[in-house]
Amino acid sequence: MKNTTIAIFVGSLRKGSYNLKAAKAVLEMLPENLTGEIIPIGDLPFFNEDLEGSEPESWLQLRQKIKAADGLLFFTPEYNRSVPAVLKNALDVGSRPYGQNSWAGKPAAIVSVTIGTVGAFGANHHLRQSLVFVDVPVMAQPEAYISNAGNLFNEEGKLTNESTQEFLQLFVNKFAQWVKVHTSH
Ligand code: FNR
Repeated sequence: MKNTTIAIFVGSLRKGSYNLKAAKAVLEMLPENLTGEIIPIGDLPFFNEDLEGSEPESWLQLRQKIKAADGLLFFTPEYNRSVPAVLKNALDVGSRPYGQNSWAGKPAAIVSVTIGTVGAFGANHHLRQSLVFVDVPVMAQPEAYISNAGNLFNEEGKLTNESTQEFLQLFVNKFAQWVKVHTSH
């Protein structure tokens, strides 16, 4: 049986990114039948409609990676109460050319991670809004708002906070069911 593939997108380019650390922790929590891959989005040229027809190779590769995936996981920081530009750019690149939206129908879930206290709620929901428009069924519950990220990882970048580990494992289990429901037909 074909393994189920999950494309993972991280909206921070920082080497020490807490979102990246959380994504790596979740990668290790995926059940055996799910294979996750973090898809790089930092080098994508800004979306520009003038480039349609002569798209940069990296845009085409991104679209292929999205189309090949069975499910999507997004890890987003919050920049000024919204989604970082790098993640929005990837969404835009993947949604075009018009009529060939690569994201359509892929089951997804969002984890937002912040050093602040309100779980990057604004970014989480701005991302959800765009994903709805590109026809992505985003898991409703549980929502994943990870606050105080500066206290959750050790010096090696491993997630060490037990309640966050437990919560993310529950989230991953629900996400695996969400993907199964959307891919078993
Ligand atoms: C932030 N940060 C932030 N945090 C938050 O909770 N709400 C916000 O609106 C913002 N705004 C914001 C804007 C900009 C430009 C930066 C650089 C940062 C702080 C943010 O949570 C913190 O930098 C995280 O560490 C970013 O995630 P990564 O890079 O650790 O994954």
